[in-house]
Amino acid sequence: MSTVALNLETDTVVLPEPAMPAAARLQQALSKRSSARTFRPDSLSMGTLSALLWSAYGINRADTCGRTAPSAHNWQEIDVFAVLPEGAYRYDARGNRLLLVKAEDLRAATGTQDFVASAPLNLVYVADFARMHDAKPDERAFLAGADAGCIAQNVYLYCACAGLATVVRGLIDRSHLAGVLGLSSTERVILAQSVGLAIST
Ligand SMILES: Cc1cc2nc3c(=O)[nH]c(=O)nc-3n(C[C@H](O)[C@H](O)[C@H](O)COP(=O)(O)O)c2cc1C
Repeated sequence: MSTVALNLETDTVVLPEPAMPAAARLQQALSKRSSARTFRPDSLSMGTLSALLWSAYGINRADTCGRTAPSAHNWQEIDVFAVLPEGAYRYDARGNRLLLVKAEDLRAATGTQDFVASAPLNLVYVADFARMHDAKPDERAFLAGADAGCIAQNVYLYCACAGLATVVRGLIDRSHLAGVLGLSSTERVILAQSVGLAIST
């Protein structure tokens, strides 16, 4: 079953309201947090995808466009890409929608490990250095890495609550992935994260 219904006229997917799991205690989520590299082949539902993306880096304060993860200087320089069998999309948090980047299965390009090609979803965290105003060049990658790490931990905690398996990944051919995603000269691939239904649920 396809998770993503693309509007071919606009190249966008409007996400449903995030379907958050029943209230879970932070302690339980932290107790369950772990990395897993095997997934059931099933697609994630649109509600789950929406909740996952909101947890990762959604807008949690509409008045200030604050996000669920912090960022240095509030640069909000990270863009979250959702790489699905149907195609690769850029998450537009303000519009709660996905913007089509490429209508191809690019999952294999998101990492150098075999499981990424069949993981139901691979998130890719991309920093746009152009948004990091006044950052010293040698600080950009460091701060972008920290900011992406905060997003990755949000995803880990959501997955722990929702019965999903996940692993954050640094083993990536970054120049290849930047090429296939068509990134601009100021954008850098920082980390990726595979997600799918846990085998045990
Ligand atoms: C920055 C970072 C990069 C990582 N890169 C990879 C990776 O490329 N491939 C992978 O399988 N796991 C990767 N991991 C996951 C670690 O191997 C994993 O977190 C560690 O073994 C501890 O296991 P746990 O997360 O279950 O506690 C990475 C973790 C971090 C924080």
